[in-house]
Amino acid sequence: MNDQLFSVADQVVIVSGGSRGIGRAIAKGFADRRARVVITGRDESSLSSAADAIAGGRGNVTPIVCDVAKSDDIERLVTKVINDFGYIDTLVNVAGVNRRKPALEVSEDDYDFILDINLKGAFMLSQAVGRQMVERGSGCQINIASLNTDRPLKDVLPYAMSKAGIAHMTRGLALEWGPSGVRVNGIAPGFILTDLTEKLWSDEKMQAWGKANTPQRRLGIPEDMVGAAIFLASPAASFMTGQTLYVDGGYTAGWSWPIPEGGGQR
Ligand code: NAI
Repeated sequence: MNDQLFSVADQVVIVSGGSRGIGRAIAKGFADRRARVVITGRDESSLSSAADAIAGGRGNVTPIVCDVAKSDDIERLVTKVINDFGYIDTLVNVAGVNRRKPALEVSEDDYDFILDINLKGAFMLSQAVGRQMVERGSGCQINIASLNTDRPLKDVLPYAMSKAGIAHMTRGLALEWGPSGVRVNGIAPGFILTDLTEKLWSDEKMQAWGKANTPQRRLGIPEDMVGAAIFLASPAASFMTGQTLYVDGGYTAGWSWPIPEGGGQR
């Protein structure tokens, strides 16, 4: 049987923030399955070398510079992809940043920096790509949310607010674009080891806490996100929209607690 259920072959896919971390792993996941992938980021040279490395000589990954905090960049990106490829099948909104500090120490610059990229940038890119998808009558968007989407972790409030917004955006766009054949879903990664979090998880106390509170007893790696992204973009998820999938090793399944062996019975 030639099973097309999970196929993304020949899709035109944009991955924002595709130069490293989760975005790069997802971009490679699509490229390895014969999708035509466009990766975006702010820095031309790191983007180009990432595209070459992801493509591995197959030439199916195109780097296009786009700072998602700049509306002009977004318009330029979408126009170029439509000119070069004709349409966009899937958008993966990955670009994201964080500055960890208590709420009382958050400056206006911190707030704007985080929200402009994580939420406003994601919305503007979704809208620009969504316009093409709605007109074409098909498409899929995948937004990267977070464990902070439903309940904030301490000392990352603007980030948590942006990620709560991402899940709301996912549901709202699914409502508006469902009738036009465009599906919008999200992935909420657990604790994933990337450049964004490396410093945090190099702290031994943090590592021990993260593992102890994750039922699968490990932190995630970017490649752990690939299966969910491929699934959401494939025909297998054709009746699914407005949902955020948690890919977190079970972190949000419930609370681990230091209950004594045997259930603490007297
Ligand atoms: P990372 O720092 O390794 O990668 C972030 C990517 O976004 C980079 O490619 C960077 O160039 C790009 N980017 C940043 N600002 C941009 C802008 N203005 N325009 C275009 N691209 C921009 O981070 P990581 O960990 O791979 O994070 C990726 C996404 O996953 C983010 O949205 C993050 O919030 C989310 N996430 C990460 C988790 C983790 O534990 N690492 C957990 C939950 C969510």
